[in-house]
Amino acid sequence: MSCEFCNLPQEALREELLTLARQYGQIRGMGLSLDMSRGKPSPVQLGFSDEMLRVISRGDDCFTEEGFDTRNYGLADGVPELRRIFAALLGVNEEEILLGGNSSLTLMYDAVCRAMLFGTGGGALPWKDQGNIKFLCPSPGYDRHFAISERFGIEMIPIRMTGKGPDMDEVEAYAAGDKSVKGMWCVPKYSNPTGETYSPETVRRIAALRPAAPDFRIFWDMAYALHDLDDTPDALENIFHLVRGTAGENMVLGFFSTSKITYAGAGVAAIVSSAENIRRAKAEIAYQTISPDKLNQLRHAKYLKSAENVRAMMRRHAEVLKPKFDEVVRIFQKELGSCGFASWTEPHGGYFISLDVLPGTAKRTVELCAGAGVTLTPAGATYPYGKDPEDKNIRIAPSYPDIPELRTAMGIVCACAKLAAAEKLTGQTAV
Ligand SMILES: Cc1ncc(COP(=O)(O)O)c(C=O)c1O
Repeated sequence: MSCEFCNLPQEALREELLTLARQYGQIRGMGLSLDMSRGKPSPVQLGFSDEMLRVISRGDDCFTEEGFDTRNYGLADGVPELRRIFAALLGVNEEEILLGGNSSLTLMYDAVCRAMLFGTGGGALPWKDQGNIKFLCPSPGYDRHFAISERFGIEMIPIRMTGKGPDMDEVEAYAAGDKSVKGMWCVPKYSNPTGETYSPETVRRIAALRPAAPDFRIFWDMAYALHDLDDTPDALENIFHLVRGTAGENMVLGFFSTSKITYAGAGVAAIVSSAENIRRAKAEIAYQTISPDKLNQLRHAKYLKSAENVRAMMRRHAEVLKPKFDEVVRIFQKELGSCGFASWTEPHGGYFISLDVLPGTAKRTVELCAGAGVTLTPAGATYPYGKDPEDKNIRIAPSYPDIPELRTAMGIVCACAKLAAAEKLTGQTAV
């Protein structure tokens, strides 16, 4: 590793440590309180959808185009006009979509739960009756995916992310070689937290997987499928087209929601999969509910109107988000650019920037930030079991704060990353 900072002689490093510690003391004295722990839309972004609160205001507004009264039970597949919009946005057929409630995470949890309790269908044994089972976990990844696996006692195997998606040699070897490997978590577009998009080759190799376990399932989380930030967006190969009509048709379970399109946690979520998987899921969900919240679905259909209109909305989101991402990158470049130990992603979309600090200092950096009033996602959260093997990855969520707050927070993150590095390199704790 060669950088101005790391190459300082010990004496100069100790001086630097004292300077950084003094600076940290001043920051602490500012009494800040900034929460950047989760990727939430900002109030400005939420305001874009406030028109949605007005599209249904009386009983007469509650009917679908075909005249169905959404105030009543029925329409278990969801409101048809919203299904059509989702199908157009995701490039799939309407019978490959099942609309649900407010959260795609709930649908993912339920899909794992169903497979555990009842199996994946076609005579497969429930996962709970197959001994120790495992999931492949591209890492760094989404902490809540890993939390679902952990909750169900599913062993997690970390898979290295390459910048083009997971290391497919590893994925193929595990999937083909071990029948107890039952699934893989994927955020294929603008992955959380690295922001990378799976390359066409990666997606084709995933679609072509022929795992040893016939009940292997890919959890394809399209949380950021439409969330481009700039004029050179990443393109994602359509895995549903690739598997349709093949032996792997039922292998992919897709998930989507409008949490970062309309309202977070108050949008509409969907399962996207083969027509057969959709029929199966629907039959099981029928035990849980008579029908989903169709009023919210209709509100979304009336407000979103068309796939084209949703794409226009996403451009408005990007106008707010892009300057925030640019600001984070500008500050990292300015403050950490000469530190060879730090690197970060510059994604073309999504909600996160992934920052790597000096190995062995991510936890300490996050701890120092907390002490200075900036709450970040806990270090390690982006890895299975909360254990970053190199203790270097920190997830940055630039969406919620306004730009002055973001500027302050990122300045503090950089100061803390340098202070933690100086502590590590001198073997001294300064604060
Ligand atoms: C990758 C990913 N999937 C799912 C979610 C949650 O989605 P929902 O609000 O639809 O449950 C998030 C939220 O941050 C996310 O980053």
